[in-house]
Amino acid sequence: MSIRYEFTKDCFIGVEAIDQEHERLFEMINQGMELVSQDENVALCVAKELIMQLRQYANTHFAHEEAYMEQIQDAELERQKKEHAEFREYMNQQDVSKLTEENVKGMLTELFAYLAKWLYRHILGSDMMIGQHKIIEEAKEKEDVFAFTDKFKTGIELVDEEHRKLFEIIKETNDLIDQQLLHDKYDAIVHIIEELKEYTRLHFSDEEAYMKEIGYAGLEAQQAAHIAFVDKLNQINLDEVDENQQDYLYELIDYLLSWLSTHILKMDKKIPVQ
Ligand SMILES: [Fe+2]
Ligand SMILES: [Fe+2]
Ligand SMILES: [Fe+2]
Repeated sequence: MSIRYEFTKDCFIGVEAIDQEHERLFEMINQGMELVSQDENVALCVAKELIMQLRQYANTHFAHEEAYMEQIQDAELERQKKEHAEFREYMNQQDVSKLTEENVKGMLTELFAYLAKWLYRHILGSDMMIGQHKIIEEAKEKEDVFAFTDKFKTGIELVDEEHRKLFEIIKETNDLIDQQLLHDKYDAIVHIIEELKEYTRLHFSDEEAYMKEIGYAGLEAQQAAHIAFVDKLNQINLDEVDENQQDYLYELIDYLLSWLSTHILKMDKKIPVQ
């Protein structure tokens, strides 16, 4: 039996054409994993072709996704492009001419495990947010988007309390940025972002512990989504924050808020109350 990477319904972002392409990518990855249990010579023949196909299909998919984001003027487009470029670069480094019967299985296992993990995190961390920015932008006119309202409640007391606190920290950060004279508050911003990182880690570990305790089947997808978000938090670069960086910070707030809202509504709310 070979390892299979499940494309679960947690991975659906709600845009049919994109969802279908993601599913196809997962299928190709699973085909790659199946090759590992085949004879070396069979694996070698098929692997080269499959890797080329996957490279091509991923490029086509990224182009579609980017075109769709462009069309809806998604604020995340630039960030997405960078992530897609990272995947492309990894694929381009794969030199199929170096494959031999001796190394083919090891190479396949490593390559497809990396791709599955990358794709899983990318879908849950980034693609999931396609179209969400606009929703938040529009909501901003009508409601207080920083408020932890009833629609975000999961019914799990600890989780709800921690989500409320996360909303609070994001709002505090936003208020801080709103104040004039950015250089005077640099330390305060650095400090509050650190607090956000720390509290996020604590929250994810509490939430995951709860899911483990109740034997929740969606745990793996949740973990992947959490890791993707923590990665993003770790990439925050405040070294460049000066008076011209107000825009960077507002963008950051938008990102944090839309990720959190989307994640709670699409994933956390599915966790059963026990
Ligand atoms: Fe993407
Ligand atoms: Fe959560
Ligand atoms: Fe979660």
